[in-house]
Amino acid sequence: MPRSKPCTWCACLRLLALALALPARSAEFREEVDVLAVLPANNSYLFSIARVKPAVEYAQRRLRAEPGPYAGFTFNVRYENSGCGNEALFSVVDRSCGTKPDLILGPVCEYAAAQVVRLASHWDIPVVSAGALAAGFSDKHREYSHLTRVAPSYLKMAETFSKLFQRFGWKDALFVFDDDKEERNCYFALEGVHSILDAQDYKIDVLDVHSREMDAEEVIRHVYDSEVIIMCAGADIIRDIMLAAHRQKLTNGSNIFFNIELFNSSSYGNGSWRRGDKYDAEAKQAYAALNTVTLLRSVKAEFENFSMEVKKSTQKVGIYNHHGGENVNMFVEGFHDALLLYALALHEVMKNGSSKKDGAQITHRMWNRTFEGIAGQVSIDANGDRNGDFSVMAMTDQEAGTFQVVMNYFGVNETIQMLPGFNRERFTLKGRHHMSFQENPSESSGGLGVSAVTGIIVGALLGTALLMAFYFFRKNYRITIERRVPQEDCNIGKHRQLREDSIRSNFSAA
Ligand SMILES: *[C@@H]1O[C@H](CO)[C@@H](O)[C@H](O)[C@H]1NC(C)=O
Ligand SMILES: *[C@@H]1O[C@H](CO)[C@@H](O)[C@H](O)[C@H]1NC(C)=O
Ligand SMILES: *[C@@H]1O[C@H](CO)[C@@H](O)[C@H](O)[C@H]1NC(C)=O
Ligand SMILES: *[C@@H]1O[C@H](CO)[C@@H](O)[C@H](O)[C@H]1NC(C)=O
Ligand SMILES: *[C@@H]1O[C@H](CO)[C@@H](O)[C@H](O)[C@H]1NC(C)=O
Ligand SMILES: *[C@@H]1O[C@H](CO)[C@@H](O)[C@H](O)[C@H]1NC(C)=O
Ligand SMILES: *[C@@H]1O[C@H](CO)[C@@H](O)[C@H](O)[C@H]1NC(C)=O
Ligand SMILES: *[C@@H]1O[C@H](CO)[C@@H](O)[C@H](O)[C@H]1NC(C)=O
Repeated sequence: MPRSKPCTWCACLRLLALALALPARSAEFREEVDVLAVLPANNSYLFSIARVKPAVEYAQRRLRAEPGPYAGFTFNVRYENSGCGNEALFSVVDRSCGTKPDLILGPVCEYAAAQVVRLASHWDIPVVSAGALAAGFSDKHREYSHLTRVAPSYLKMAETFSKLFQRFGWKDALFVFDDDKEERNCYFALEGVHSILDAQDYKIDVLDVHSREMDAEEVIRHVYDSEVIIMCAGADIIRDIMLAAHRQKLTNGSNIFFNIELFNSSSYGNGSWRRGDKYDAEAKQAYAALNTVTLLRSVKAEFENFSMEVKKSTQKVGIYNHHGGENVNMFVEGFHDALLLYALALHEVMKNGSSKKDGAQITHRMWNRTFEGIAGQVSIDANGDRNGDFSVMAMTDQEAGTFQVVMNYFGVNETIQMLPGFNRERFTLKGRHHMSFQENPSESSGGLGVSAVTGIIVGALLGTALLMAFYFFRKNYRITIERRVPQEDCNIGKHRQLREDSIRSNFSAA
């Protein structure tokens, strides 16, 4: 056994060094934890190995340095390329031939995560991910039993919309999204919103714009049917749709527009309408009606240091963010917090007399608890999913075209907080008379002067004409939507069906 000798030696030396250097340290437990981090190597992903590694290393340093119950834990982290698909499963299987890891961090991409989490749950290995955000992963009773999500899932984001709909009394929505058929972030994001709003009996129409073939004018024809338009697509698509909506005078309060931009929010907000083309002025006006839903960013003192360290490390390997964005995003923070959370749970499990091999118990110790993460409090619900905080940004200065956060939604207590920039007008539907006129015309005309009443009658006549026009439009375009769905299924065929099944999504039936 030629290998065991040097190992005993290093262990001895390490212990000696620890004993000499830090005589005051009194870790209750010593444990070596094998961690397998399964993430893409390709840096075009916000959660690539090179971006996440510095955050995990920061957490390792922090756990080691702080005198406390976790100082005795040593994390040996291996990083494996997951790509965004099947490679993740292959990496885990190949790397687990000899000894299985004690903890898996990642994967983030839904299709990669589905396979890895199933296998890990079968092997009794905890999986902690800042991804796997799709609604399907919420079912922890069977195949995803060992999954803990340290970033807020799409269902948590959907609660924000549910709260806003209740608050402002909206009734229906049109979802406009671009499904890339690869990572499918927008598809899964809106699937989450769909499952929450649909369960509360809101009427929802769905429109997949197919990126390059998108015809903004056609999208606008669907907009008339719905009060609230919720979009998830690339920045250029959003701009085209907003420009078209503005030209049709739909940005004047007759519809409420939302754009979902969770991960790349620093690229959003101020100046996101600007392209340096001749439509900038028009786009600025159009964006006055656009609200962006994004993650709430909280910052505390320690975060600055973390952020600097991560930035230094990523720049060392040549990753720069050219759009003034940060290298520290939800995923990077999440994987830092993942290691802390695991350490908390492992410590408790060891106190209870079990070991790192009791994956199920460690997993359940990570659930239903709140702890201090790198950017603020992290609260994991009783189902092992992080409660999320989200912000709604809106244009608060129409001259400059700048955005500010106007509302925050806190998942922990399910409350909405209005900020100084909040303006109720902006979230109030106007000019959708055809509904209210027919329902109770007498109530509102009671105390009004003659001219106002004439106005209302003229308005009602116009409204009826419009309503009829809309009705015919609607008939036509309903058919278009209905026809498109089966067509799409044919094009993509069985393969996609299988992939969808693999994480049990029923959104496409919408
Ligand atoms: C990384 O991903 C991007 C976008 O998916 C792709 O264009 C690029 O070719 C990939 N790079 C490598 C080295 O695979
Ligand atoms: C938009 O609303 C404003 C204020 O409510 C009104 O002055 C303006 O005429 C409206 N514009 C259109 C095109 O309806
Ligand atoms: C982030 O936003 C910028 C600017 O809109 C865009 O160029 C970039 O591709 C986005 N990155 C991701 C990962 O979405
Ligand atoms: C936009 O700019 C304004 C004024 O410069 C600033 O107060 C605000 O925080 C910025 N908003 C975003 C989202 O960057
Ligand atoms: C972060 O904090 C550590 C120790 O607290 C310090 O050694 C390091 O220089 C700090 N990093 C930055 C970028 O301030
Ligand atoms: C403590 O460990 C035992 C078995 O080792 C287990 O049955 C029990 O549920 C654990 N307690 C808690 C609170 O998890
Ligand atoms: C979650 O924790 C609270 C106390 O912190 C406890 O009252 C509650 O029963 C727990 N819920 C579940 C589902 O374990
Ligand atoms: C809800 O939680 C947030 C964040 O913890 C807090 O700032 C806010 O005051 C709470 N709101 C209520 C009504 O408790």
